[in-house]
Amino acid sequence: MTFLEFLLILLVLYYVIYVLLWIVLDCNVALWYKSRFGVSLSSMRGQVVWITGASRGIGRALALSLARHGVRLVLSARRVEQLEQVQSECLAAARGLLAQKDVLILPMDMLELEKHQSHLYTVLNHFEKLDVLVNNAGRSQRANWTDISVEVDRELFELDVFSVVHLSRLVVRYFLEQNGGRGHLAATSSIAGFSPVPFSATYCAAKHALNAYLLALKVEQRKLDITIFAPGPVATDFLQEAFTGSQGTKVGLSTANQKRLTAERCGELFAVSLANKMDLTWCGLFPVNFLAYCARNSTLTKILAQFMTEKTLNKIREGKL
Ligand SMILES: NC(=O)c1ccc[n+]([C@@H]2O[C@H](COP(=O)([O-])OP(=O)(O)OC[C@H]3O[C@@H](n4cnc5c(N)ncnc54)[C@H](OP(=O)(O)O)[C@@H]3O)[C@@H](O)[C@H]2O)c1
Ligand SMILES: *[C@@H]1O[C@H](CO)[C@@H](O)[C@H](O)[C@H]1NC(C)=O
Ligand SMILES: *[C@@H]1O[C@H](CO)[C@@H](O)[C@H](O)[C@H]1NC(C)=O
Repeated sequence: MTFLEFLLILLVLYYVIYVLLWIVLDCNVALWYKSRFGVSLSSMRGQVVWITGASRGIGRALALSLARHGVRLVLSARRVEQLEQVQSECLAAARGLLAQKDVLILPMDMLELEKHQSHLYTVLNHFEKLDVLVNNAGRSQRANWTDISVEVDRELFELDVFSVVHLSRLVVRYFLEQNGGRGHLAATSSIAGFSPVPFSATYCAAKHALNAYLLALKVEQRKLDITIFAPGPVATDFLQEAFTGSQGTKVGLSTANQKRLTAERCGELFAVSLANKMDLTWCGLFPVNFLAYCARNSTLTKILAQFMTEKTLNKIREGKL
């Protein structure tokens, strides 16, 4: 065997293993690597992380993962009782690393843009700093493309895009004034934010738009750390609240018995993405993770499109395949 042949075999082997990892892992390879060998979550101890949509689901799971390592938290959402519940869960998970004053409950409706600035002041008055803003509050959607009213398009963008951009602008201004532009901004996007899925047109567009806003910011503010975390199907109650095509109605379904990544695992992977300041990460069980990889490659996307009907894609995203 010549040296060249040897190199070729190594190269082929590398790709075979790489693609195998797309199948067996529940997140992108770089994120899995960092979860094993990267910066540990305890490096974030003492930092102040503000999480929106922290009353349940992915936001709650992220809060618990961070609390375990002594990260100080601001928990925001509309429902105060749920936030109080999450606060006590965080304190229990922290096992002495955090006191009550280290987990601040900050009730807020993301849609009340005029109150964002005073909410930021509340955080800064309490902790005297903010290290990371995690924009996680959001609502999904189930509807046929042709049935969606423009009012729903607007409402969904108002919550999943404009409210996030508005709050982020205030925080980035604070980073610029206080830290010369250093700071960390994160958002829960979705795999639907870079690969279209059926029956969620407005949601797909909104997460694509959110990604674009953050990527455009990164080009202007090089010192800023930006994390776009893109989950595939996760076992939360989000379908209860999801938009349909008509205004004022919600999907109101449960995700029980569907094959979905647990919220706990999702929160843990989100925390690893933050600790390692990763710019784009995603997670999801097979075949979601595999498809997410293919979606990042235009050649593979075209090949896959030959085999994927909207029915198959929908089964995958509803955890039925
Ligand atoms: N679950 C999935 O499969 C999945 C997949 C990809 C991406 N995501 C994204 O992950 C994020 C969290 O979703 P999830 O699955 O955890 O959903 P979830 O369980 O429904 O949680 C949504 C959170 O957002 C808060 N929220 C909703 N509207 C709000 C508003 N107007 N103002 C402030 N807070 C508001 C809710 O709290 P209150 O009701 O108390 O305000 C709740 O804490 C979303 O951005 C979603 O798009 C989810
Ligand atoms: C989309 O339309 C089809 C055919 O009318 C219907 O069976 C299906 O339930 C609709 N899907 C949603 C999410 O509304
Ligand atoms: C897409 O994948 C093909 C086949 O693996 C590879 O040759 C090509 O370089 C990839 N393209 C991009 C943009 O990553």
